[in-house]
Amino acid sequence: MNANHRSIQVRLLYVSHAVGPQTTTMTTSILLQAQAHNPSQGITGVLCQGQGFFFQVLEGERGRVNTLYRRICADKRHQDVVLLHYEEITKRQFGQWSMALVHLSVDDPKVKMQHPDFDPYSASGAQVMQQVRDLLAAGQEISITTP
Ligand SMILES: Cc1cc2nc3c(=O)[nH]c(=O)nc-3n(C[C@H](O)[C@H](O)[C@H](O)COP(=O)(O)O)c2cc1C
Repeated sequence: MNANHRSIQVRLLYVSHAVGPQTTTMTTSILLQAQAHNPSQGITGVLCQGQGFFFQVLEGERGRVNTLYRRICADKRHQDVVLLHYEEITKRQFGQWSMALVHLSVDDPKVKMQHPDFDPYSASGAQVMQQVRDLLAAGQEISITTP
């Protein structure tokens, strides 16, 4: 590995199914882990959760994003992790959050309008990525406080 490998930045998007109910306790614990770990790794992104799904966008240096993704894949709180999108980037789109949280609800007009049969497993990566951007733009970001 040469010194340049650190400068390659990537954006990754996956979808998964939660194991068991998506309680506030579970979400808070995931977010606390993300917020404790991601800043030191230069990783930013957004976690969307609801309706039994997680989608998460991770941005950062390639090796670090890959290492975190492998750890997340092995996490027993979710399963059926499917990589939907992966690209090299020069500019982050989710750079302001060590990990933003967005709640997904089928009652959400954006979710309904764009995905009447809401199923991220059959949507294209580009569609899901757009949905994440739309949810953030619609001000769906939630800040979680420790219970
Ligand atoms: C849906 C989901 C998203 C996660 N996102 C992150 C993340 O962005 N950063 C992180 O460090 N851990 C994340 N985790 C937790 C990791 O899988 C793992 O449990 C954690 O990093 C272990 O950290 P610790 O052993 O230092 O507590 C996530 C877990 C799940 C289920």
